[in-house]
Amino acid sequence: MRFEIITIFPEFFTGFFEHGVVRRALKDGLVSVGVQDLREFTHDRHRTVDDRPFGGGEGMVLKPEPLAEALESLGIAAKAERGLSPPTLAPEKTRQDGAPHSVAGTQAVEEGAVAGTRVILLSAQGLRFTQATARALLPLERVVLLCGRYEGVDERINSLYCDMELSIGDYVLSGGELAAAVVMDAMTRLVPGVLGNEASSEFESFGITDSEISADEIGVPRSQHGSGGLLDYPHYTRPAEFGGLAAPEVLLSGDHQQIRRWRREQQLRKTLENRPDLLDRAQLSDEDRRMLVSLGWQPVGWPSRGRRQG
Ligand code: ADE
Repeated sequence: MRFEIITIFPEFFTGFFEHGVVRRALKDGLVSVGVQDLREFTHDRHRTVDDRPFGGGEGMVLKPEPLAEALESLGIAAKAERGLSPPTLAPEKTRQDGAPHSVAGTQAVEEGAVAGTRVILLSAQGLRFTQATARALLPLERVVLLCGRYEGVDERINSLYCDMELSIGDYVLSGGELAAAVVMDAMTRLVPGVLGNEASSEFESFGITDSEISADEIGVPRSQHGSGGLLDYPHYTRPAEFGGLAAPEVLLSGDHQQIRRWRREQQLRKTLENRPDLLDRAQLSDEDRRMLVSLGWQPVGWPSRGRRQG
């Protein structure tokens, strides 16, 4: 997997590339990255990348010419020349619930992008980037991350070159650089071989279904990390007592069955507390449902549609 990042702040990424999982993946050649300084594609003395918006209004807009040149320098032609239909996502493809079959980005993969390049514009106006999006994009050979700045990017760049527009959340950042780092991080850790434990990325929050989880070699329930679309359970390490708080006794008991049950319950509690919306589409067993109802959960379709009583 190769990432190309187009930005007016190339140095922004230096620290990001030099730490943790991303650094190791780059070092091991499991992913590679190129950073294009947008100002390198200007031709005036001031290396101008922005201009005032037509129609007036606040702020500045990233000019189309340097962006187009930067993309062309990567061998990326306009979509019309690439023979790709514009990403006119059908309604079912714009669902924002993270369901793998309907995730933003799936279309690009379905349409023969499996071994190709796709251009992604990072913007607050984009489809929401989720774990499922990260997975759907994984078969691509190259992902070009175009970082917006100022008030935005001239929309013709989006129309002509971008295969999708992604937002990392419902807030406005000063630019797409942080979002590009988020996308690259989330995708990198899914690349086979990047995480020490091949399976571990599958068991994290929003990961695979609980039924697919098995115990590891020594019989300890593998960290489920929010499997089945739930949030992760709390983690503890030594010392057994800290700040007057003891680590939950069950975790020291060696009883793997109990540990698994406790963790599942914690996942359910945490998800109900912090992200009840996830429960509507989580993979829940009858036991899970009983537990949730005892905690005050009302499933969708119940009379008040309330997420939590009281
Ligand atoms: N640029 C500004 N805000 C953004 C967001 N929420 N996601 C992606 N890019 C952005």
